[in-house]
Order: sequence, then structure tokens, then C-alpha cells
Amino acid sequence: MERHQIQINPDQCIGCGRCVKVCVARNIELHDHKAKTVLRNCLLCGQCTAVCPKEAVSISGYTTGQIEKKGEVRLKPEEVLDVIRFRRSVRQFRPDRIPGEVVRQILEAGRLTHTAKNMQDVSFVVLEKEKERVEQMAVSLFRKGKPFADLFSPMARNQTIGERFFFFNAPIAIVVLAKDRTNGILAAQNMEFVAEANGLGVLFSGFFTMAANASRKIKKAIEMPRGKRAAATLVLGYPDVKFLRSVQREELEVKYR
Ligand SMILES: Cc1cc2nc3c(=O)[nH]c(=O)nc-3n(C[C@H](O)[C@H](O)[C@H](O)COP(=O)(O)O)c2cc1C
Repeated sequence: MERHQIQINPDQCIGCGRCVKVCVARNIELHDHKAKTVLRNCLLCGQCTAVCPKEAVSISGYTTGQIEKKGEVRLKPEEVLDVIRFRRSVRQFRPDRIPGEVVRQILEAGRLTHTAKNMQDVSFVVLEKEKERVEQMAVSLFRKGKPFADLFSPMARNQTIGERFFFFNAPIAIVVLAKDRTNGILAAQNMEFVAEANGLGVLFSGFFTMAANASRKIKKAIEMPRGKRAAATLVLGYPDVKFLRSVQREELEVKYR
């Protein structure tokens, strides 16, 4: 038996058909004014359970529940744009600890993020106690590869791989693991927003992500499951830098056809 299954309680179903309309898998039909699933196999996206006015539709096998919407949550578009406009990569951090509740909120943003085919394949490794030990593994790896990188990149030649090359003394780093890279990156972006809303500074470490996927030692240290890869690494802490204005970007490149 599948871990999760759509269950429709016929006593509660009023045959309104809302679940039928939202079902992208076309897996619900009305028979005698009652909703019924067609196949047991389903995307399990849960839209039917979120739209039913009588709570007649549910998915079995979850330990987590549903939360009723109290009202429409709408952010102001200009404010959202400003958050995007003024966010900067932060590499200077204060040593202050991030409260557990804030870390949990950031992880919650990742957990709640939508995934292709509702795969829910994204998981997280919070590096705190082991952060420097794991960073050291990445440093060793990059130091080995540096002579090769120097051959091709003047920017690489200009860099030294210091002891804090990846995490910049930030109090924590979160590695986002996923089967599907896009899913992991979407989760990471939402996590960044929640981190920033809590006054934190964030850096996406592409270098650490690269090291994690290249090093068997790092994979073992962070217990990366088989079939998953690091999709992103968020370096997090309270910023010790204040940016006073936005930075310039190229003109919008877009075609309307
Ligand atoms: C996917 C991704 C990976 C990145 N990896 C690193 C990194 O490994 N180290 C680093 O110092 N900056 C990294 N950055 C930061 C970029 O260099 C930075 O976003 C860019 O220079 C623009 O600056 P801003 O983020 O302050 O606007 C990364 C950014 C992105 C989006």
C-alpha cells in the first residue's frame, strides 16, 4: 500500500466539483454528485484537500496537518521589489548566534517550498558545530585544484584559499540537498527571503556546493543520501556591513512576441 493516499469522505462531500476542477492529474471525477478518485496513483499535490469547503478530502499518511487560511496574504509589490533590489551577498558577519527559532523558520521556508511533480525531495544539513571541520575539507580540496584553476582564470590567480574561504566566519551554513537541482534552488531562495526578514545576511556559496558534490569526504561528513546532490549552500549570520544603496544592473533584456 502507498504511503500516502487521497481519501474522500462521501458523507462530507457535497458534490461541488471544486476538487475536480483543480486536479491537474484529472484524478477526481463526480459520480452521483460525489467526488471519487480515478487512480490510486496520483501526484498527491494536495490541491483537492486545500480547496474542499467541507474538509471531505484528505491525504493519509502525513504526520503534519493543514493550516486554515485566515485571510488573503498579499505583500506590497513595491516592497517585494525593494527586498530584491537591496539584497546583497554578505561576507562580513557578526559572531552573534542565530536563535534556534529563527533557524527553524528558515528551514520551514525550505520545507514548504513547492517541488516539481511534488517530489518533496529537498532536505537540509545545518552546519554549526562541524562547520569549520567541513569547511577545512573544502579548503583542502580547493587548494589542491588551485594550480589548475590559476592556469585558466586571472581571478583565481588573484585569490588565496584562506581557512575561511567558504563560510567567512558566519555562525552557520545550511546545505540544501535535493534530487532535482531546481527544487533545491527554489527552496534556498525562499529560505533567503525568510532569513533576510529576520535581519540576517546571506551568501549563496557556489564554491562550497561545488566542493560538497566533488568530495567523498564532505559527502560522508554531511551524510549526503545516495541520489541527492547539494543544490545550494546558504551561509548565514547577522551582517557586519551596511550597504547604503543598490548596485547597477544591465538594462532589462526581454522580448515580447
Ligand atoms: C549561485 C550563486 C553562487 C555564488 N557563489 C559564491 C561563492 O562561492 N562565494 C562568494 O563569495 N560569492 C558567491 N556568490 C555571490 C555572487 O558573487 C554575487 O551574488 C554577485 O557578485 C552579485 O553581488 P550581490 O549578490 O551582492 O548583488 C554566489 C552567488 C550565486 C547566485
